[in-house]
Amino acid sequence: MGSFSIGWREAILGILGLAFLLPAAPVHAYQDQEAERGSEVFARRCSTCHGDRGQGLTDEWRATWPPTHQNCWKANCHGAQPYPENGFTLPRVVPPLIGPGTLQRFATAADLYAYIRARMPFHAPGSLPEEDYRAITAFLLQRHGIPADGQPFDPETARGVPLHPVASREEKASGEVFVFIQRGLPWWIAGGIGVAGLLWGMIRLRRRK
Ligand code: HEC
Repeated sequence: MGSFSIGWREAILGILGLAFLLPAAPVHAYQDQEAERGSEVFARRCSTCHGDRGQGLTDEWRATWPPTHQNCWKANCHGAQPYPENGFTLPRVVPPLIGPGTLQRFATAADLYAYIRARMPFHAPGSLPEEDYRAITAFLLQRHGIPADGQPFDPETARGVPLHPVASREEKASGEVFVFIQRGLPWWIAGGIGVAGLLWGMIRLRRRK
């Protein structure tokens, strides 16, 4: 009886700490250098349509183009229709990729990567080198608040990297504090608190014996 009542508070503290440690341990995400290179590729190959800040094809972004290009749809500036091989029809609507509420349809980094690799750039799908697709994905992960962990982006392990940390509303209610602590504290501090809690509980247990 006595031994049960002694350590339970410390044990719970310790288990909670370890619970933080497990899911907060670094996921296999990407390297900073990759994201940096991805930002350059994005500027060259994606930003014409998706905007310099990933804001999408907004009027504000179109206004920065040369005047003769601002009304591409009418001016046929990408060649006479039907378009030549290297020309393309400018889409009317291009979704934003960076900012609140963007990329909602992709559950994991792997889904995002697979889509971009298969479908983008819109007018020439699959035309970029493989490492450019990885670098762009790394760049978008970075802009969505997913930290780099020093490991190169890998499409396989990317399945374990959720793009939106809290998926559903129910999860949100119970997960907010958890996610807040996870993101606010480096994993080794949260884990350290857990280990310290366990040790403390064990020391107290021994003292009472
Ligand atoms: C010629 C214009 C154009 C270019 C260049 C382009 N895209 Fe797109 N992109 C589009 C359009 C149009 C859509 C919407 C397609 C759809 O919904 O079927 C889209 C959709 C997307 C989506 C899905 C967004 C969502 O939330 O549904 C992603 C991600 C994306 N593009 C990434 C890229 C990347 C990365 C590049 C550069 C390698 C790129 N795009 C280059 C026009 C473009």
